[in-house]
Amino acid sequence: MINRLRSWWKQEQKQTELSISADNIPQHVAIIMDGNGRWAKRLGLPRVAGHQNGMKAVKRTTIAADELGIKYLTLYAFSTENWKRPKDEVDFLMRLPQEFLKLELEELMEKNVRIQMMGLENNLPQHTLNAMNEAAERTANNTGLVLTFALNYGSRNEITESMRSIGAKIADGSLSVDDITEELIQSHLLSSNLPDPDLLIRTSGELRLSNFMLWQLAYSELWFTNIYWPEFKKKHLIEAVAEYQRRTRRYGGLL
Ligand code: IPE
Ligand code: IPE
Ligand code: MG
Repeated sequence: MINRLRSWWKQEQKQTELSISADNIPQHVAIIMDGNGRWAKRLGLPRVAGHQNGMKAVKRTTIAADELGIKYLTLYAFSTENWKRPKDEVDFLMRLPQEFLKLELEELMEKNVRIQMMGLENNLPQHTLNAMNEAAERTANNTGLVLTFALNYGSRNEITESMRSIGAKIADGSLSVDDITEELIQSHLLSSNLPDPDLLIRTSGELRLSNFMLWQLAYSELWFTNIYWPEFKKKHLIEAVAEYQRRTRRYGGLL
């Protein structure tokens, strides 16, 4: 019985993987990981249980993205607006990076994953920042998947800060107004070392961007699912990539 189940499961896995082609894998996938609280509520659990299980989905998705040949995975973990939540929940979320890295860093090292943070550093608790910095340092020489945690990230804040820094350079004479180009603005964003996302996924059925990578998503393909983040599995990533591969990206031109 167990064996029959196992072979059915293997068959099932193979079939979903066959539905995507190895030639057109999105280089950069960004995910708005949403629905942790509602997942927990549905099971009669406290919201933080949703965040705890969301962490397992982060691990699964990173491994799955690596297996599919995705080069950059960017995960929206905490927005600049999420400080509005109750202190207990915020404190819990701020402890998750440490816990995640304690549990998973060794395996991610083995998989050659490079970890980095994208977000405002100044008002993060020191322990959260230390955990992210340590992960970034330890994985700095890895050459595999680049895993970026958007933590204390807000796109309007990012764009505002980049305008301030360009403005300061104009004021001190190191740049002139004519130097302002799309490339210059891009190079002042927190994501300056990342290509634009090819595919954006949002879980939990919400159809909005919630201040995530507004500049960078200009021509990304968007994919939404009703699945809550803690339920997200490799098969959902494959489903999203399969849909991505059916899309025609025109960038405003004609084919
Ligand atoms: C996403 O899940 C995680 C964060 C925003 C930190 P939520 O906590 O937003 O879960 P819902 O949307 O309330 O279900
Ligand atoms: C977006 O989710 C932020 C993260 C996933 C980290 P939210 O749950 O905060 O977004 P809204 O409030 O539904 O727009
Ligand atoms: Mg939410």
